Parts: sequence; structure tokens; C-alpha cells
Amino acid sequence: MLDVVILAAGQGTRMKSTLPKVLHLLGGKPLVSYSIDAATALSGKPPVLVVGHGGDQVREQVGSAARFVDQAEQLGTGHAVMQTRSLLAGKSDHVLVTYADMPLLQSKTLQTLYKAQQSHAGPINMLTAVTDSPRGFGRIVRGEDETVTSIVEESHATPEQLAIKEVNVGIYCFDATWLWDHLDAIPLNKKGEYYLTDLVEMAVAEGKTVNALCMEHLEEAIGINTRVHLAEAEAMLRKRINEALMNSGVTLLDPATTYIHPGVVVGQDTVIYPNTHLYGETTVGENCTVGPNTMIESCTIGSHCTIIASVLEYAVVEDHVEIGPFGHLRKGAYLEQGVHMGNFGEVKNSRLRQGAKMGHFSYIGDADIGEETNIGAGTITANYDGVHKHKTITGKRVFIGSDTMLVAPVELGDDARTAAGSVVTHDVPPGTLVVGVPARPRPQQPESQKRKG
Ligand code: UD1
Ligand code: MG
Repeated sequence: MLDVVILAAGQGTRMKSTLPKVLHLLGGKPLVSYSIDAATALSGKPPVLVVGHGGDQVREQVGSAARFVDQAEQLGTGHAVMQTRSLLAGKSDHVLVTYADMPLLQSKTLQTLYKAQQSHAGPINMLTAVTDSPRGFGRIVRGEDETVTSIVEESHATPEQLAIKEVNVGIYCFDATWLWDHLDAIPLNKKGEYYLTDLVEMAVAEGKTVNALCMEHLEEAIGINTRVHLAEAEAMLRKRINEALMNSGVTLLDPATTYIHPGVVVGQDTVIYPNTHLYGETTVGENCTVGPNTMIESCTIGSHCTIIASVLEYAVVEDHVEIGPFGHLRKGAYLEQGVHMGNFGEVKNSRLRQGAKMGHFSYIGDADIGEETNIGAGTITANYDGVHKHKTITGKRVFIGSDTMLVAPVELGDDARTAAGSVVTHDVPPGTLVVGVPARPRPQQPESQKRKG
């Protein structure tokens, strides 16, 4: 049994923000959610989050994804773990400690650390990394036989220790019994803090070995302290996501300007052009062309679609649909197979059924547009009377002339037609042509006036 403790009580002063550091967004999700997800994947239960500064906001945002412990005063990493005693002591065999501001750390790395602790007799396994710029990190001090003897914080290090390139990542897996037996013995240091790192020296003094797992890529363990770090992490996350997509068969013309959030699914042989943003719970099917200059948030897109320079939010698009340039799908838009939506169209809370076409400059809101209906240039559904929203319904194969105003609530039957410039305020029966303002059925022309030949 394993419990994971995530330290998140620090103030994050260098973010220069009123928002707690761990709630800043990376890839569209709060920083803290990455460590929570990685921890939950490993232990199968919500981790314990030690919160302090901005604790209420963090609690509210995270909800039941974590268990919370308060650290009212931030007296160091050792002190932070001490706060979890009443919740965790005696509950599990191992305790893994990690940070809320290391979002790129992968669950499989934590898994490796946990496995090492399970097969190791000593009380501590920890992650280290070798770097040419060890600034800020605690240094790993090894004895003549190369075993770890202590961790020295930069501010306490001698010049020789400062030259050490192996650093403490800050993530440890402990034998739980040993941890709870020794935690309170961490001395208060000159800075008035209890350092978790002091446990290493304490274990060594007892003749126990401390195992250090040296990570290949330090970038996985970068901590976010400033907005510069946040942007660096965003770039690394983007690279990770984009490479995984390309390796699964998606073409990205310019990965550096393709912004895809974690969890987005893109099908094989889809081609993504520059400056495309795919956010939220978005799925794009196979053989689509998306972008350039496109933003899609929480949409389901079918296969063989073409979407150019458009914004799509909370919408569903079936196969073989064309959108753009300059289309806007808003919440509740549903475009069935083969729909064509040309330039400057907006669709909100409406269904466009199979094969419907709206080529140019239209607003369709709160509508149900029948199969093969043609929406002429400049058609507008006047769906809002200032108080309520009303519905527009058309049947199949309706032909809506250019610049028609459909004043809802209104219904047009199958094969109905409106003349250019009509203002439709009353329902139109099937097969009927309406003209004018307000639109009326066109009177039958007497035979004598019909053009001959
Ligand atoms: C710590 C390690 C250092 C390591 C580095 C890696 C100690 C003494 N030092 O140093 O060896 O190289 O991390 O990043 O542990 N926190 C609390 N409560 C506290 C203090 C900190 O929750 O009272 C949290 C912070 O929010 C942060 C994490 O613990 O997420 C690390 O704290 P920080 O002050 O950044 O430690 P470092 O000085 O970087
Ligand atoms: Mg730090």
C-alpha cells in the first residue's frame, strides 16, 4: 500500500500573482492537477495535498481529487510532511513525497521510484539528476564508496559541494514505518526550518543505505517558480504532446505553432496546419484537414472534415463536413454529415441536417435545419425577442433565398422556398414560395400574365 503526499503550501512569490502558484494553467489545466493525476495513477487513491498559501482556493478547485492537510506556517519541507502524520501514519507501507509545481513529472517515473523502494532494504529511495546548471538545487553528497551520505542545500554548501553536479530532484519514496519514526527527529535548522532532506543523513548515520535513482532527463523534474518557467514547461509539454501525435500518424506542418492540450485525440492521417489550437475534451477523426488559424475547444469532429481559419466551441461535427474560412460554431451546434458551412457563418444551439449548405454570412441560432436545405447568403434567424429565445425549424430541401430573415418561432415545411430579402414571420407550408416583408405566399400568376415561350 502506498500513499502519496504532494507539497503545495509554498507561497510562489515569484509568480507575482494573486492566484496560488499551483492553480496557474499549463496545457489548460491547473499545475497541481498534473501531480494529482500522476499520483492517483500510481497509488489508486487521492493523494494528500499539503496546502498553505491560497489553500481555500486550491481546495475549491481540486475538490475530491485529493485529501487535504493544512500547513498554517511554512516551516520547511520536513515540517510539511509532519502535518500529514495524523492522516497517514500506520495506514500504508510506503509514502512517496512529491511537489505540486513539477507538472512534467510522469507517472511512470514515480512508478520506477516506488518499485525501487519496494525491492530495496533501505528506508529511502530518491530521484536525482545530473546537470551542468545545478543552481538552486540541493547537492547529493556521496562517500568514497559512492554511496549517498547526505543532501546539502545550496545555501549551506561548501565551495567543493557547490561544484557537485548531481542534484536532489526533491522526490522520495520512504518506508512508512521508518518515516513516521524519524520525521519528528528532524532538527530545526538555523534558518528556522525543518528540512526533509535531513532524513538522508539520519538514515546513513544509522548505517542504512539511501538509494538514489538518477533520472535521464532533468526536464521532467523542472519546478515552476516563475512565469518564465511556466512558459518553458508549456513548450516542453507541447513538444511531448505533438511528438506523440506525430508518432501516432498525425501530420503537423509546424509543431512549434500547434497548440494541443493533453487529452485531445486526433485520428490517423489528419493534417494540422500552423497556428491551430485544440483544447479541452476534443476529438478529431481521421483524414481531416484542420487550420491554419483554427481554435477548437471541447468538440467532437468526425473524419474527412476540412476546417479552415475557424473557431469551434462545444460543438459536434460529423464526417465530410467543410467549415470556413471564418466559421464560428458555438455551444450546441451539431453539423451532420456532408454539411458545408462557408465563410462568415455562425451556428449556435442548432442542428444542420445531412447535406445542408450555408455558404456565406449567416447566423443560425436555436434552429433545426432539414436535410439538403440551402441557406442563402446573409440569412439570419432572428431567434431572440429580447426576453426569450425561439426556435426556427425547416423541413427537407428548403431553399432560403439570400438575405432572408427568419423571425422565430417559425417553421418552414419540406421544399418551401423564400425569395431574396423576405422577412418570414409566419410558418410556411410545404412546397410554398413566400416573398416580401412580411413574407406571404406568392399569389398564383394568372395564365395570361405568364411569359410565353
Ligand atoms: C527543495 C529541496 C532541495 C531540492 C529542491 C528541488 C529541501 C530542504 N530542499 O528545495 O534539496 O533540490 O527542493 O526542487 O527540501 N513546501 C511546503 N511547505 C514548506 C516548504 C515547502 O509545502 O514549508 C513545498 C513548496 O510549495 C514546494 C516544495 O515544497 O512545492 C519545495 O519547496 P521549496 O521551498 O521550493 O524547496 P527548495 O528550496 O527548492
Ligand atoms: Mg523549489
